[in-house]
Amino acid sequence: MKLFLCFLLLTALSLPFLSSISAVTLDDTFYISLKWPKSQCQSKEGCCLPKKGNPSLNDFVINEFQRDFVSYCPNGTKFQPSKIADLVPSLQKYWPSLSCPSRDSKKLWMEEWYKFGTCVEPEHNQHDYFAAAVGAFKQINLLKLLSDAGIKPNGTYYPGDAINNAIEKAGLGEITVTCREDEKGLNAVLDYITLCANIKGKKIKCPGSSFWICDGKNGNKVKFPA
Ligand SMILES: *[C@@H]1O[C@H](CO)[C@@H](O)[C@H](O)[C@H]1NC(C)=O
Ligand SMILES: *[C@@H]1O[C@H](CO)[C@@H](O)[C@H](O)[C@H]1NC(C)=O
Repeated sequence: MKLFLCFLLLTALSLPFLSSISAVTLDDTFYISLKWPKSQCQSKEGCCLPKKGNPSLNDFVINEFQRDFVSYCPNGTKFQPSKIADLVPSLQKYWPSLSCPSRDSKKLWMEEWYKFGTCVEPEHNQHDYFAAAVGAFKQINLLKLLSDAGIKPNGTYYPGDAINNAIEKAGLGEITVTCREDEKGLNAVLDYITLCANIKGKKIKCPGSSFWICDGKNGNKVKFPA
């Protein structure tokens, strides 16, 4: 009985302390940028499907998942595929390597781990990092969000603020839209959209302001390629 009370007391005392720690780490903003693969595939850069998995080119894929804009954190642990084995089917679908020549997406995940993933340590680990990216990707469901707002990948040019407005209306704050130039260097083509999430893989409202990196010679219209 005495022991039990003692445990209760300890729990009560430590809870506010623990929750204030997790509040700090959970509130950290991560940026998840989602790429429209067809824009890359139809550009000079081109695309090659990875050796394993069969990702769809008709949905967004994860481009980067990063905390603030910190990269290449020192003292990171080695990339270990065995630690994310359960996530591989999802990662193959949602975070494929599209660079040429074709390669195993594991190479991409390793690069991303060293570039941005290591910066979540030591509070979080490799599994947390990749699970959060996949979770946020699924929860945001960007293709559906845009499609519900009448923005569909059918080769149409959409006015500059249409995408920003659709995402703001969905409660995800002000986000960044980045384009690439079309072959003639005239028009802006949707490249990727950067939204916000936390390390639990939950979408959150972006705290900053929006950026529009999409100005073509035809004004601020952006093509969403079919
Ligand atoms: C990385 O590790 C080295 C050697 O243990 C240590 O001196 C350094 O402070 C560490 N850096 C960070 C940012 O933790
Ligand atoms: C593409 O879809 C949008 C939204 O549904 C529609 O307004 C537009 O006319 C379509 N464009 C083409 C070329 O089908």
